[in-house]
Amino acid sequence: MTRLHFPDGFLWGTATASYQIEGAWKEDGKGESIWDRFAHSEGKISGGDTGDVACDSYHRWRGDIALLREMNLGSYRFSIGWPRVQPEGSGPANPAGLDYYSRLVDDLLEAGIRPFPTLYHWDLPQALEDRGGWPERDTASRFADYAEIVGRALGDRVGTWSIFNEPGVFTLMGYAIGIHAPGRRDGDAFLRASHTVNLAQGDAFRALSSVRADARIGSAFSMTACEPAGDDEADAEAAERWHAFANTWFLEPALRGRYPDAFPGGAPLEAMGVRDGDFERMEAPLDFVGINLYVRSHVRHEEGASWGLDARAVGPPGESGPRTDFGWEVWPDALHDMVLRITRDYDTPAIEITENGCSYADAPGPDGRIRDERRIDFFRGYLAALHRAIEAGADVRAYHAWTLLDNFEWSEGYRQRFGLSWVDFASSERERTLKESGRWYAAVADANGFDT
Ligand code: FCB
Repeated sequence: MTRLHFPDGFLWGTATASYQIEGAWKEDGKGESIWDRFAHSEGKISGGDTGDVACDSYHRWRGDIALLREMNLGSYRFSIGWPRVQPEGSGPANPAGLDYYSRLVDDLLEAGIRPFPTLYHWDLPQALEDRGGWPERDTASRFADYAEIVGRALGDRVGTWSIFNEPGVFTLMGYAIGIHAPGRRDGDAFLRASHTVNLAQGDAFRALSSVRADARIGSAFSMTACEPAGDDEADAEAAERWHAFANTWFLEPALRGRYPDAFPGGAPLEAMGVRDGDFERMEAPLDFVGINLYVRSHVRHEEGASWGLDARAVGPPGESGPRTDFGWEVWPDALHDMVLRITRDYDTPAIEITENGCSYADAPGPDGRIRDERRIDFFRGYLAALHRAIEAGADVRAYHAWTLLDNFEWSEGYRQRFGLSWVDFASSERERTLKESGRWYAAVADANGFDT
């Protein structure tokens, strides 16, 4: 048996997102978001589910904090709903919306837990989508205004921020593939959206820093370890392009003021709407790199595929790991490899694991306990891999399990359960019960490590 000990001061936490847990979709002056509109549209979400009530965390956040305490956690990554703060995405703040987050922050601090808000976890005010959404450049300036409002309201108590959650996912799924809000299927709109988001990231970084110079500001990027599907050079090069596209398309602009080499002929700057001065504007010296990681990718060279990338991600090869209920492959080395790649390529930046987790539907047994052994195995594997990356020199400061509660899993609705706590969606109280994995995680956080 080996004891894996994490560095002193390492933070253990969980992550959530506003639309996935809050509910109260039109309370206290909140405006409509693109996810409200999308989920209310016929046929978009499995089972016709919506986030109207979700885990009702807008009313039950005290219960959420009690769970965090029960798990001995030191960090809570949550997101702020832009339309709660600015119902129409511009103009004055809605005080009731800000009050909710202000109370949450106060109560977290009182519980000894670091509040770690994300400014944008996908719930764009619908009014801004009606004016063009992320493909429209003006949205970057609107976002910077919003960042400043939130920074002024919470910056006296919040020292660590994430600007975006998974910019690569919400631009691609929302504007090119259309299975996430706002449900557009337009490759050019996606390219423009990705550039606006890079501008917005730079603007928001400066807006938050102007409020509090010592704030620690990063973003949570979706990442996947990219491996060539075959042995030939063409697949190896395609895997590198996919890495640039999937992992660093929003990181390289911030840290280096340039787009990475994702497209064989260079980034399609004209189609993206890039103007003079934009490269300086998107640059932002992020204080940490947030990594959300679930799976690895196998990449094949394919002429003309994927919006001109000439690369396509294909399923895992013959030798592959077990699948979660979502069908995602369990492959802990992906986390190790990705963390070390970012460490190497960006001169050992501070890293926070901002999300990592798995969907298993294990339900309460006759005694009420939820024996989700597969989730414990998942975390054991990924945490051991992370520990190896730290031993090899990565500067990892925190780990956030996705997620605190079973919740609204986007287009999958409530059928994918990622929580360390079971939520009874049939009860009006949305009763929460810690799963066995939650108990295991509590022991890990308490000991700052575990035995393998
Ligand atoms: C990530 C999202 C998060 C959650 C997990 C399962 O892509 O950031 O909201 O849905 O996947």
